[in-house]
Amino acid sequence: MKTVCVLGSPREKGISTAIANQFCAAAESMGSEVRTFFLNKLRYSGCQACMACKKTHERCALEDDLTPVLDAIADADLLLLASPVYFGNVSSQLKGFIDRTYSFFVPDFVTNPKPCRLKPGKKVVFVLSQGMPDETAFANIYPWYEFVFLQRFGFSESRLIRACGVRDISKRQDLLGLAENTARELCRLG
Ligand SMILES: Cc1cc2nc3c(=O)[nH]c(=O)nc-3n(C[C@H](O)[C@H](O)[C@H](O)COP(=O)(O)O)c2cc1C
Repeated sequence: MKTVCVLGSPREKGISTAIANQFCAAAESMGSEVRTFFLNKLRYSGCQACMACKKTHERCALEDDLTPVLDAIADADLLLLASPVYFGNVSSQLKGFIDRTYSFFVPDFVTNPKPCRLKPGKKVVFVLSQGMPDETAFANIYPWYEFVFLQRFGFSESRLIRACGVRDISKRQDLLGLAENTARELCRLG
């Protein structure tokens, strides 16, 4: 079992990072190999819309710090994406990464019943941390990404862990427990 954790917050001690770290520790305790990428320390471009991944290449033609991240995901069983909510969406660090996953699509992905190059059946967990305590605020972010991962990338499971208005994660053992239990459950499923 291989887990890839992609951290989209610039804050190494932030809320989404802490929840993701708890998840990864539990995944490791279940025997999963875990690779973590802290996007803010990587140097990469957004998608250039060069369409090389639809014409001449089977992968993203850009070679930068995201290349090993995209490769690791292709090889992984479980993917964790963590981000703060910035201006009602994921951070620019994570969005830049997500745009590069366009390279996972086959050239005729709009009409192809198997639109993705990835092996099907992977699992994804989103961790989203927002300043607003109101859970109805920004509840629209996850459903779109869930749709893409399940319906387009062929993932079999998608989960969400949200931290709304959390300032001190040590006071939210419920969220840390949820991260731990989610990792255990998904690792047990294999
Ligand atoms: C540039 C920026 C934009 C933000 N936009 C929002 C927002 O739209 N909604 C919100 O609830 N919080 C917003 N916040 C607050 C963060 O989402 C919040 O502090 C979050 O818990 C940070 O997560 P982290 O600790 O994982 O980095 C914003 C913070 C920054 C720095």
